[in-house]
Formats: sequence, structure tokens, C-alpha cells
Amino acid sequence: MNAAAPPSPYARIGGEPVVRALANRFYDLIEQDPSYAGLRAIHAADLGPVRHGLTRFLSGWLGGPRDWFERGPCIMSLHRAFPITPALADQWATAMACAIAGDDMLDPRIGDAMAEALGHMARGMINFGLQTGDSAAA
Ligand code: HEM
Repeated sequence: MNAAAPPSPYARIGGEPVVRALANRFYDLIEQDPSYAGLRAIHAADLGPVRHGLTRFLSGWLGGPRDWFERGPCIMSLHRAFPITPALADQWATAMACAIAGDDMLDPRIGDAMAEALGHMARGMINFGLQTGDSAAA
């Protein structure tokens, strides 16, 4: 029994340059496409740091270097600070799906799995504007 570990999604899609290009396409869309104006508005003026942060997060999440994860709070805790409505989570998930679809070279099985998992994660971050029975009535 000496099965080598299968290559990570990070390695299979082409590593850091591919992940960095994906994060940049994502934030280019947020910056340039008015459909994402709500999401743009709650980000800082300078998107440079989050372009870098998303690149490092996605690298670790895909099985590459884990420096982002070793640095501090988990992605879900970090986002509790932001008012994430269902509409903003949808904007995030849609922009990410478009950024993924923008890479013609990406294996569609990996791209689809990424878009689905990240979409679920974004919707799991909703912490604002969801009215549930009792609290809505209160
Ligand atoms: C799977 C879903 C998401 C992932 C993986 C993700 C990832 C990230 C990362 C890596 C950062 C940079 C943090 C750092 O490195 O310190 C960040 C920042 C941020 N994210 Fe997300 N995010 C997600 C969903 C969302 C959603 C749904 C919103 C909607 C409101 C959002 C709003 C923000 C904001 C406002 C910042 C801080 C930006 C700034 O200071 O300019 N994120 N996110």
C-alpha cells in the first residue's frame, strides 16, 4: 500500500498563476460591472490587498500553500464583520462563477466544483436581511 497522494486541484489547474488570474478576474468584475455595485460599495477603495488575500485563500483552499490559513481567523469568522445580505452573497457567487468561467483552460469538472462549493460558502455567510419567523415578528 504505497499509493501516492493524488495531485491537488491547485496543482491540476496550474498553481499560483492560474489562481492569481482568477482572483484578479473576480475583482475586475466587481470593479467594472455595475451588477456588482453593492458588493463593490462595501469593499475598501483599494482592492489590491483583497486581490492578494483571495489569491492566498484560494491557493490554500485548493490544496496549495496554506500561508493564508496559518495567518489568522477562518474565512467565515472574518466575514461576520460585514453585513452580508442574500443579494450580496448572490453577487459574490455569480461574480466568482463568471470569473471561473472566464478561464477557457480550466478543467470544467474542477471549475464547476469550485463554483458550487464557493457559492455554498458565500450563501453560508449571510448574516443580515434574512427574516425568520420569530425574529421578524420581534
Ligand atoms: C466563499 C465566499 C467568500 C470568500 C472565499 C471570500 C474571501 C475573502 C478574502 C480572502 C478576503 C480578504 C481577507 C483577508 O485576506 O484578510 C475577503 C474580504 C472581504 N470580503 Fe469576502 N469572501 C467571500 C464572500 C464574501 C461575501 C458574500 C461578501 C459580501 C458581502 C464578502 C465581502 C468581503 C469584504 C467586504 C471584504 C473586505 C474587503 C476590504 O476590506 O476591502 N465576501 N473575502
